[in-house]
Amino acid sequence: MTSAPTESAPVDTTAFPSGFLWGAATAAYQIEGAVDVDGRTPSIWDTFSRTPGRTAGGDTGDRATEHYLRYRQDVRLMSELGLGAYRFSVSWTRVQPTGRGPVVERGMDFYRRLVDELLEHGIQPAVTLYHWDLPQDLEDLGGWPVRTTAERFADYAALVADALGDRVGIWTTLNEPWCSAFLGYGSGVHAPGRADWTAALRAAHHLNLGHGLAVDALRAALPAGARIAVSLNLHEVRPLTESAADREAARRIDAVGNRVFTGPMLNGAYPDDLLADTAHLVDWRALVQDGDLAAIARPIDLLGVNYYTPTVTSALPPGQAPDPATAGDAGHGDGEQSPFAGCADVLFHRAPGRRTDMGWPIDPTGLTDLLLRIHREHPGLPVMVTENGAAFDDRLTPEGTVHDPQRIDYLRGHLDAVRRAIAAGADVRGYFLWSLMDNFEWAHGYGKRFGLYYVDYATQSRIPKDSARWYAEVIRAGAVPDQRG
Ligand code: FCB
Repeated sequence: MTSAPTESAPVDTTAFPSGFLWGAATAAYQIEGAVDVDGRTPSIWDTFSRTPGRTAGGDTGDRATEHYLRYRQDVRLMSELGLGAYRFSVSWTRVQPTGRGPVVERGMDFYRRLVDELLEHGIQPAVTLYHWDLPQDLEDLGGWPVRTTAERFADYAALVADALGDRVGIWTTLNEPWCSAFLGYGSGVHAPGRADWTAALRAAHHLNLGHGLAVDALRAALPAGARIAVSLNLHEVRPLTESAADREAARRIDAVGNRVFTGPMLNGAYPDDLLADTAHLVDWRALVQDGDLAAIARPIDLLGVNYYTPTVTSALPPGQAPDPATAGDAGHGDGEQSPFAGCADVLFHRAPGRRTDMGWPIDPTGLTDLLLRIHREHPGLPVMVTENGAAFDDRLTPEGTVHDPQRIDYLRGHLDAVRRAIAAGADVRGYFLWSLMDNFEWAHGYGKRFGLYYVDYATQSRIPKDSARWYAEVIRAGAVPDQRG
């Protein structure tokens, strides 16, 4: 269940294996803008962000960083960094507006141009098919809690593979289905903003099924050699104390935070403890139809891991009632109630020490432990870190520079953590930094800056932060420079 502590033996944390893929990541709704051009229709994030009170400051992705217009310039920035790969997502409603029917070529052409531009600069495209922007039309038909959405997703996967499959070698079905299911349909802090734990668990199953059906569709359409992945925000769950109650809280969060996906995807079954924990919310026997588990367990070539901070849990003290008003966005809060289905009586804690601008504690040991756990439990499955990074309160100086030593520190620590995991045997093939540039951070709007490039939203100019230069040096050397570097 939870991981063994990290070994503290000295290891060479500087050099990465040759062929290690250095990348950066973004997502369509967070950067593209141009939400109503060339036939694109609203996704659940358009609807959600335009609903008063849903996002900080009422921010929407309407304009975002205008990447749809400025993609050539953005690929130049990637080239300046020396990126080996760029992970981006396709906006479903740009290429298949209602989530059904034929491709809209004008929308697909954008991705064709982007892929061509990347390849011309020697950067491998890594496509994510679903980074949270379900067509609103499909949500109106029931969204992820209904089974047909999984089938629609597989059809869409086939369309994108037909269009881009000859030039894209890395494919990710879903990004962080945990967030889609539990933040979208459970706590309701993400689109579509429903608060219904039964719907959330149904969504989780249909996301799993959509993943499996999409793997089949991709295999059928892609040339041999294409690598197919899924990106999970696996939680490194740690009990606050070694008490039986806190360990039990950690087990439950591990079930509904991790094994609800890795169980069926990698082991071909939902774990018994998860089924028991959530039996009062969902009738799993009716939900999981014959053949579903085999479909979900189709082999993948890579597991994408997104990691930001560990998850520390405790049991609610006996006799204390859960307080829904404290429910947080991702279980990273302090003394807050769980946003995990069936776990209202689990509390979350922030470890003392340094935090990012999201309030997330900085603890790279969580990444090493997570990678080593995957290595132990799924030997032979190559991994890529498909997201890791940090928001800080970056400021543009009058000289037009952005000094972000805290981000460099964060990255240094986490790359060091990846290297430690590799030294201990984990098969980690690449690292995608979140994010290439500042962007629309979902419910937090534009206030949280994760980028290597600072975006001045008034002018849309992109300014390299000190971390951009630092990361370029890491990529050039294939190693983390020492403290003086
Ligand atoms: C992840 C999301 C990504 C970004 C980072 C900070 O959960 O996949 O889009 O918002 O968090």
